[in-house]
Order: sequence, then structure tokens, then C-alpha cells
Amino acid sequence: MTFTGLYGAPPAVVADAPGRVNLIGEHTDYNGGFVLPTVIPQRTIVELTPRQDGRFRVWSENIEGPGRQAEFVLGSEAPTKTWIDYVQGVVVALRQRGFALGGADMRIASAVPIGSGLSSSAALEVSVARALRSAFGLHLDDVEVATAGKWAENEFVGAPTGIMDQMVSSLGAPGFALFLDTRSLRAERVPIPPSVELVIVDSGVRHRLVAGEYATRRRQCEEAARLLGVRELRDVPVLGLPRVEALPEPFRRRARHVVTENDRVLQAVAALRANDPAQAGELFYASHASMRDDYEVSVPQVDALVEIASAERDVFGARLTGGGFGGSVVVLAKHGSGRAVAGRIAERYRRECAAAPTVLVPAM
Ligand code: GLA
Repeated sequence: MTFTGLYGAPPAVVADAPGRVNLIGEHTDYNGGFVLPTVIPQRTIVELTPRQDGRFRVWSENIEGPGRQAEFVLGSEAPTKTWIDYVQGVVVALRQRGFALGGADMRIASAVPIGSGLSSSAALEVSVARALRSAFGLHLDDVEVATAGKWAENEFVGAPTGIMDQMVSSLGAPGFALFLDTRSLRAERVPIPPSVELVIVDSGVRHRLVAGEYATRRRQCEEAARLLGVRELRDVPVLGLPRVEALPEPFRRRARHVVTENDRVLQAVAALRANDPAQAGELFYASHASMRDDYEVSVPQVDALVEIASAERDVFGARLTGGGFGGSVVVLAKHGSGRAVAGRIAERYRRECAAAPTVLVPAM
């Protein structure tokens, strides 16, 4: 159904925001560390007409059945454990920052795959915040859009994520990786060199334990930082690894992942700047091994995908992207080879793992 079909007139504003794929720097953002994500072409679109009576009526193209329509009232937002909580959460975040909102009619349509580790939730939060910003003329910069989205996710939805996804959805640009220091929120765009192409292969595997395991990892990192006497694991340089090695398990391996991963991000930024895809690819593989063995957030099907990708001649590197426990693999391939490589990887994976992959080849 179109916006006019739903509400009787065309929308006053249209806003959108992209999903993301993280190149490297996984599970570092809630440790104050470095990340290097980029945007994908798939976006979430929000059409909106402001109201002044405090009502929010929201319709989603991505949900089937009666659950696609939801309503809430300004000042009476309450979590429902459904998709509308992302919208309510952003509204509450903006209200708490002192912005006056009057209500809205909204229509949401997203092309960002849901549950693939490509941040459909951040794309939703950022696109809603952008639509409200333009409808109500809010003085909100792009970093504030991202932090409002993170607040919605952490405090309203209740997912204890870091800031990476909202920051890249809000500040990222196609063809560039966003080198972000998640402590200072200093962000720098690093061009993705023309020698490479990114390929994303979704394993099709979804783990029900994601939320609980994510929160557990986060707590283990906090405990590791406490044992090491630092504010966050970000404060441990690679030179501090001998002290990490002395920690009891599982803190030793969890902290080792975060400390080495932060260093890999810095090395990957240098490799991209030097147009050295072979070096960047090696860092991808090392990151994957660290997530699999030290951080224990991979699953056998995702490991198989990385293995299959690594046998391809035109592949420099591959790794699990996003939070883990299923989801997608990001492959660094030789420019011009992306489609062919993606097809062969998906075909072998389908055959050997009896699973249903989905392939995305974002044009750079
Ligand atoms: C999820 C979270 C991010 C980040 C990644 C892991 O995508 O939303 O904040 O922690 O997992 O790198």
C-alpha cells in the first residue's frame, strides 16, 4: 500500500538510511575501540507527514498481517517487543533531548535484509530520526542522529549494542570505509581502493542465542578490563598482551580478541591507504580466526563459508561480519571478479553445507 493509499495524501517528507557491512573491528565498539564499517546499497525508506495531536500511526511494508500497522501516543510510549519499539525508542530519545515532536503518520519500507548481520535495526533508527529531523526542523547533527538511535536500541529495545552501526548508517558513504574511534566518535572516511570489490554472503543461519551471548561477551570484556585495571579494553595496547595472557579463562581469550582486533583495524586502514589488498585480506582471515577461536561467536556454517572463499583465486580475505552466531561473511575480492566469485562460493556452500545462502555484491 502506498502512503497516499494509507493516509489520503502524499508524504510531507521522505528520508532514508543504509544498512552496513563491517570490514573489520568486531566486538570492539563497546570496548571503546576502533571499527571500519561501510554502507551497503540497501536502504530503509521512511515517508512521513507530521501531525500535531500527539498520535503516531506507523505502517511497515516488511511485515505481513495485522502486525504491520502500529500506533502510539507521544508521552505514552511503552515497549511491545515488536518492530515498532525501534520507532518509539527514537521518538523517546528525541523527546528526552528536548525536541518538540507533534506526532506523525509514517510508512516504512526496508530493503536491508533482516537478521543477516547487516544492521537493519540501525537503518530503521537512523531513517526515522532523519525523517523526524526534517519534518520538525530539528537541530540535530549526524552524530546526534546516531547517538539517538543507539539510545533507542540500548534503553528502549534493550539490546546492549555499541555505536558502530548507527554511526556508519548516519555518517557513512558508498565507496568509503568509515574509520571510527568509538570512544571519541572521531570518524574518518577511508577510500576503498579500486583494486578490490566487496562480496557479502549470508549463511542463512540464524542463532536464537544472539542477544544473550552478546550480552555475556560484553560483560566478560568489562570484567577483563577490571582485572587488568583499565577503564576499557581499548586502553590495552598490543604491547600489553603479556598481561592479557595471564588472565584466567575465558577473560584471557576474550580480551586477546579485542586487543588484537583493535590493532588489526589500524593495520587494515594502513593497508587500504597503501592499496595493499593482500595485506588487508590477511587481516580479514586473522580477524575471523580470532572471532572463531578467542571470541567464540562463529558457527560451523560461517567457518565453512570463509574456508570456501579462501580457496578462490580472486579472493584476498574473508571473515564473519557483525555480531555473529550466524549471519553474513564479507569477502574482499579482486575488482571485477565479485559476481563470479560470489556465485561460486554460494554454489559450493549450498552443495557442501545443505544451506541456503543469499549473495549481495555492493557496487563500490
Ligand atoms: C552488533 C552491534 C554492534 C557491534 C557488532 C559487533 O552489530 O550492534 O554495536 O558490537 O555487533 O562488532
